[in-house]
Amino acid sequence: MPFPYSSRRSFLKQVSAASALALAAPAVSAPAMAEDNYVANSPIQKKMDATRAQRMAWWHKAKFGMFIHWGLYSIIGHAEWAKEQEGIPLLQYELLAKHFHPKPNAARDWARLAKRAGQKYMVMTTKHHEGFCNWDTKLTDYNAMAQGPGRDLVREYVEAAREEGLRVGFYYSLMDWHHPDGARCKTDEAARKRFVAYTHGLIRELMTNYGKIDVLWYDVDWPLTPEQWESDKMNQMVMDLQPEIIINNRNGLPGDFSTPEQHIQASEVGRAWESCMTLNDSWGFNRYDDAWKTPKTIVNNLATCARGGGNYLLNIGPEPDGSIPPETLTILDKVGEWLDTNAAAIYETDRGNLSPTNNINLTRRGNTLYILQQFWPGHTPAAEWLDFFKPESAVTLAGLKPKALSARLLKTNQKVNFTQDEFSLRLTGLPIQAPDDPATVIVVECDGEPVVDQWSLVPLWPRYKVGISV
Ligand code: GLC
Repeated sequence: MPFPYSSRRSFLKQVSAASALALAAPAVSAPAMAEDNYVANSPIQKKMDATRAQRMAWWHKAKFGMFIHWGLYSIIGHAEWAKEQEGIPLLQYELLAKHFHPKPNAARDWARLAKRAGQKYMVMTTKHHEGFCNWDTKLTDYNAMAQGPGRDLVREYVEAAREEGLRVGFYYSLMDWHHPDGARCKTDEAARKRFVAYTHGLIRELMTNYGKIDVLWYDVDWPLTPEQWESDKMNQMVMDLQPEIIINNRNGLPGDFSTPEQHIQASEVGRAWESCMTLNDSWGFNRYDDAWKTPKTIVNNLATCARGGGNYLLNIGPEPDGSIPPETLTILDKVGEWLDTNAAAIYETDRGNLSPTNNINLTRRGNTLYILQQFWPGHTPAAEWLDFFKPESAVTLAGLKPKALSARLLKTNQKVNFTQDEFSLRLTGLPIQAPDDPATVIVVECDGEPVVDQWSLVPLWPRYKVGISV
């Protein structure tokens, strides 16, 4: 028997396989059409369209957020799908709730780290797939107040984020492995009604009891359709209670923004998007996962998101007591240190028509181009006899359209000399050692919006035996 649901990643794979098949299939099935109609005709979605730009203004400027996965699964330390992936019986799993003993105010350390790292908002798991509620809900006693912690962990988190001046987001998994109706709601209408009432009730509490909430981040909508979840009513309730909030697209309605997961993919122009990614390979604490990304990778990912006009939601998986894994601290502190001097190259940049290279990422604002040199060239001994590589250290970018007017290092403000022809911009006389780490930013003022397109040069190149004397 096939596993009834799967991770988001394989779920998405199935969806794209299904849509590939759909190309060959002549007709769209009736339930799919009903679902499409429901989504297309959602009244709240239309209302949200009207206020989106204003509601999302802060978020577009924020660029960088902290995702936090923390729950009973953190105690096991095998990441957040352990219950399903290791087949842990529910009654065994429930016992974890009695053994969840976070240290006081763990969230303060997360919020302080987020602030140092240059992250402007946080999104914490209020309830993950396991069904345990990290807040003092009145709808189940499978919650942090009634169980081991004896405290409202969501409240502590909200207060900690606000204390650091950060915006507050709630992650909420619709899928629930604990609630008795969480699976049978698919085939039993009475169960569906109960489970949808429970779900809407939990969301209502979250939207009512914690003051102004900035982001609602739904996850996995298995096993119901948007219509069965009553997603339109759900979002209407959320907007009534929190008129300024922004909502993601994972309850089956488009909401305000798209959520590419573990990859970076810009949406079509005009549609907001946010890539969520892990810092190692796990969302929830995984004591064996040592696949940490480097600060260089994080800075590069952040720039890639900014270049496409999107946000980067980077995850941490705190330990069971809420402590931050030491590697997480080291990496995020390094990123924050870099952002202290390079903020201009990330925040408030606009989506650009800029093609990066192996060594260079690019962002822009107005007529200003930011060249983020990931791998510093130093000098080029293998070809130092070519005139092209003669200067001691040069950064070269092909395919820049407008004319460069001036250039400087962002970190030191030091002026940079350059030449430009129809092929490339060459920034010369640079230090042999990289002036900054993990990326050096060179600011180039241009006489128009910077567009970088190396492919546009192809017809310009002379070809075959050019200049070779035979
Ligand atoms: C997936 C996973 C989940 C994780 C989420 C983050 O949906 O199932 O564990 O919370 O991605 O985007």
